[in-house]
Amino acid sequence: MTDPIRSIVRRFPGVPTREGAGVRLRRSFSNPEVPLFDPFLLLDRFGSSNPEDYLAGFPWHPHRGIETITYVLEGRVEHGDTLGNSGVIANGDVQWMNSGSGIVHQEMPKRYDGEFNGFQLWLNRPAREKMSTPAYRGLSHEEIPDVPTGAGGGVKVVAGSFRGIEGPVRGISVEPEYLDVRLAPDEALELPVPAGRTAFAHGIEGGGTFEGGDRAVVPAGETVLFGDGATVRARAGPAGQRFLLASGRPLHEPVAWYGPIVMNTPDELATAMLELRRGEFVKERRPVVEE
Ligand code: CO
Repeated sequence: MTDPIRSIVRRFPGVPTREGAGVRLRRSFSNPEVPLFDPFLLLDRFGSSNPEDYLAGFPWHPHRGIETITYVLEGRVEHGDTLGNSGVIANGDVQWMNSGSGIVHQEMPKRYDGEFNGFQLWLNRPAREKMSTPAYRGLSHEEIPDVPTGAGGGVKVVAGSFRGIEGPVRGISVEPEYLDVRLAPDEALELPVPAGRTAFAHGIEGGGTFEGGDRAVVPAGETVLFGDGATVRARAGPAGQRFLLASGRPLHEPVAWYGPIVMNTPDELATAMLELRRGEFVKERRPVVEE
């Protein structure tokens, strides 16, 4: 029988990495961790008050076979893509993009007076949906419900639900849940995560513990992977805690990964590379228009 409370099975402090044109970030998990986080592939955390660390940005680059989820906690990111989307995502906005069969986009953080802070999470797509039509969802912070816990905290629901309130991102086959959880000092909260789903948390601010497992404090910047169970039980420390909680149904499919392209077989990767060289990568293209 599965223990109803999910315990921490592994901790990931994050590794300093340079990505894009030289953005300094902390990588929580990536290619070497496959398939531990299935259906999730990668989590990068941005966080710096020095513009030199982020202004180089992520100039035009391709994606295929995945969803990229960018959550800007603080700061401004200018973006554009081959589907014709362009604009700025800022303080509390989320960009949830299905690269599908192929998209080329850029993500350029702008100079910000304060700490540029946020995440990018990659979610895998099942084999039968790898070559689906690309789709872009831009969510303003106003579209993301913020559900009070009743004890001083709140849960912003991007995908999935909390206490019956559903997030705006729906209709994804692995049924991802993506919650931004804020707890008051010493507040405890139970978050149901159905058995069989992969679940992890990433500390955003403050610190707290999770019942089950080693119960050591999870500080800001650390990612913890939970074992199976029915619920995650969090307890904030004396300074309160904010963390990201994500979960989804694992795909149990082979992963063939090269840079921003994640497919199931080496042959599919080779095809993607060939198409990139021949200018045949993007299947759906629309001219860029300002939002
Ligand atoms: Co990208």
